[in-house]
Amino acid sequence: MKIFIDTGNFKEIEALVPLGIIDGVTTNPTLMAKEGGDPKQILKKICDLVQGPVSGEVVATDYEGMVREGRDLASISEHIVVKVPFTQAGVRACKTLSGEGLRVNVTLCFSPTQALIAAKVGATYISPFVGRLDDIATPGMELIRDIAEIYGNYQFKTEILVASTRGPMHIVEAAKMGADICTCPPAVIDSLFNHPLTDIGLKKFLADWEKAQGAATR
Ligand code: G3P
Repeated sequence: MKIFIDTGNFKEIEALVPLGIIDGVTTNPTLMAKEGGDPKQILKKICDLVQGPVSGEVVATDYEGMVREGRDLASISEHIVVKVPFTQAGVRACKTLSGEGLRVNVTLCFSPTQALIAAKVGATYISPFVGRLDDIATPGMELIRDIAEIYGNYQFKTEILVASTRGPMHIVEAAKMGADICTCPPAVIDSLFNHPLTDIGLKKFLADWEKAQGAATR
């Protein structure tokens, strides 16, 4: 399963890339707004660093505006994936932009029918928001299970990009369901490494080794 970082913060990405597990980056207008500066310059720097798919989102809400912004975003780097919201204008823009050979990430997906339609118009990625569904007492991972089943039935090429992840269990369940990608905030990526028994075990190994070294030198 591929792992993307969900942030527009260059320093956070720079700190995680050396781990060797980062396959791409996703951003959205809220994340980019936090960074200030020129979003296009930030996306370019991220593309140059990650050398993998980097999703940049349009802010227009009309079809013509989305297509214009999408072409402009795609001109930043070969690594740019154009992100459009799941609206009727977004679906039309996805059809047009994917028809021009651009990669499109359809975002703000909350239902299997939205995911089905996004695949029919050639989306490269569908981004179901599991955490926001959990927030309203709706099991977000059930949506992933449904989308995986539907996409499997029709061999759609669209990849499932699990978004709005909030903790390691979202990644575990996504992997068990065969999702293609999880995008995670930096804190969630850190949490994937943690296990108290690993820490306890290493501490004991090193203490035993030190003790033996101490005995050996006495
Ligand atoms: O890209 C989507 C993601 O950033 C949303 O996450 O945690 O705001 O639901 P969250």
